[in-house]
Amino acid sequence: MAREKACRAAKAAVLVLVVALYFAGGVESKQKKCDKGWECTNSIYCCNETISDFFQVYQFENLFSKRNAPVAHAVGFWDYHSFIIASTVYQPLGFGTTGGKEMGMKEVAAFLGHVGSKTSCGYGVATGGPLAWGLCYNHEMSPSQSYCNEDYLYPCTPGAEYYGRGALPVFWNYNYGIIGDGLKVDLLSHPEYLEQNATMAFQAAMWRWMTPMKKKQPSAHDVFVGNWEPTKNDTLAKRLPGFGTTMNILYGDEVCGQGSVDSMNNIISHYQYYLDLMGIGRESSGENLDCAEQEPMNPSYQPASS
Ligand SMILES: *[C@@H]1O[C@H](CO)[C@@H](O)[C@H](O)[C@H]1NC(C)=O
Ligand SMILES: *[C@@H]1O[C@H](CO)[C@@H](O)[C@H](O)[C@H]1NC(C)=O
Ligand SMILES: *[C@@H]1O[C@H](CO)[C@@H](O)[C@H](O)[C@H]1NC(C)=O
Repeated sequence: MAREKACRAAKAAVLVLVVALYFAGGVESKQKKCDKGWECTNSIYCCNETISDFFQVYQFENLFSKRNAPVAHAVGFWDYHSFIIASTVYQPLGFGTTGGKEMGMKEVAAFLGHVGSKTSCGYGVATGGPLAWGLCYNHEMSPSQSYCNEDYLYPCTPGAEYYGRGALPVFWNYNYGIIGDGLKVDLLSHPEYLEQNATMAFQAAMWRWMTPMKKKQPSAHDVFVGNWEPTKNDTLAKRLPGFGTTMNILYGDEVCGQGSVDSMNNIISHYQYYLDLMGIGRESSGENLDCAEQEPMNPSYQPASS
């Protein structure tokens, strides 16, 4: 009986706490939420311009002008419609809708800069220049291995291959597992979805852009739009708000902390090329554009099997 009473008291205390939190959060919850039709619903971010207001089909075609050339490797796969449909999940969370139109356009250019660089088949003498060939691939062409590592949480499905696929290519069973959880799609059993469904491929990349990899860390979105305050450790490691730290979050020491290497410069070049094409201009690239001197936010992945 005493236990029941204690339990009731505890429940009452929780109720009081919940009510208190509700009122404490009152200021924020009073900020007006908006709906923008199918594209952005029930969020303060939808009150600002949405992506289709400032980034339209012709601009997408301009940025990825060679993706359907006969020699490209994913002809007919990628399109504007898939990009916009995918973004409807993340625009209410601030993707492309934080901080006003110019920041929105810059974030789209930054996100697509990563995507373009990672899916390009452009090379020095390619027609239209090497930067015109983003979205040339939707999967790795000649995988040298099956990218299966022992993992308790995300064991490989027999017969599945976890080679690189998607808009920000996903490799390894554990990454398919984590992103599948994020999208609520069983990518561990069906990694092939990311080379069959362009909307899902864009969505997986946006999830990666919008989601911190560890607790208390910022997402690439956060460091780009200015949602993030570097800690003292971050400052010492030269990680500051801007495009450079988005590369640190997405690729770590594969790209960052190695000086002015091609793998880093290629991503920056795509970002700036898209800024130019979108009419913003590379002079608006922002502070802390590179990560040449940054220490990685997370050291290279070590599988937790041993
Ligand atoms: C909406 O845009 C304005 C600038 O036009 C900006 O100051 C504001 O922060 C934006 N709202 C959100 C929720 O990002
Ligand atoms: C492609 O993926 C999207 C987003 O996950 C989903 O809504 C859609 O039904 C998928 N399309 C097909 C043909 O499976
Ligand atoms: C800061 O960096 C030091 C040395 O790398 C590390 O031991 C410490 O845990 C870090 N602190 C935080 C809050 O991350």
